[in-house]
Amino acid sequence: MAENYLVETTAQSWELKIAAEAEVEPTLEQLTDHMNEQQRQAFRDKLQRYVNKPDRDLILAVRGPEVLGLVCVIKQAEFPPGLSEKNMDYLRDFACGTQLLVHPSFRRQGIGGSLLAQAEAWARERELAGFWITTHRMADWYEKNFGYKQIARVALKSAAKTIMAKKFD
Ligand SMILES: CC(C)(COP(=O)(O)OP(=O)(O)OC[C@H]1O[C@@H](n2cnc3c(N)ncnc32)[C@H](O)[C@@H]1OP(=O)(O)O)[C@@H](O)C(=O)NCCC(=O)NCCS
Repeated sequence: MAENYLVETTAQSWELKIAAEAEVEPTLEQLTDHMNEQQRQAFRDKLQRYVNKPDRDLILAVRGPEVLGLVCVIKQAEFPPGLSEKNMDYLRDFACGTQLLVHPSFRRQGIGGSLLAQAEAWARERELAGFWITTHRMADWYEKNFGYKQIARVALKSAAKTIMAKKFD
């Protein structure tokens, strides 16, 4: 069943919701301008898995019919190659965000932060111990605004990525 949360700021408001399958195509149409056809198809497949499988969800930020942003959340993601045993043990009961994206026209309004907070709430509701996410360039954003710590650097698809993690209190 879809769950909705209304986020209000003084300037504007948007809703956070768990996406249903019917929302995958509108999401692709509105958030994938920067992708080529092959990337869009791979992303379509991914979003369909996130709306259909029981261990994961696609959370959207919407305003009416507009899709402003998304985060993909999963109870237990595959660990990237090269992660140490110690870090794998540490992250074992953490949920994972596998994508966080806000449309360029709607950035710097708090939408990304609200999606991340909702993703963390999703993990807490499932009694998981924390949340982790892999990022290419946004490590400081996670650290400064949301209390994440850098726990490892890994090479993914030949790009250097940082694993950011937050253990819940
Ligand atoms: C990273 C990303 C999701 C952030 O989304 P966002 O909606 O811009 O995030 P927020 O608005 O919540 O926070 C961004 C910044 O705006 C600031 N901010 C929040 N509300 C604001 C407001 N009302 N007015 C001005 N700035 C605001 C935040 O403090 C933060 O400041 P900083 O740039 O100094 O760190 C977005 O830039 C994005 O989609 N990037 C491309 C994909 C990506 O990098 N994803 C994350 C890696 S996994």
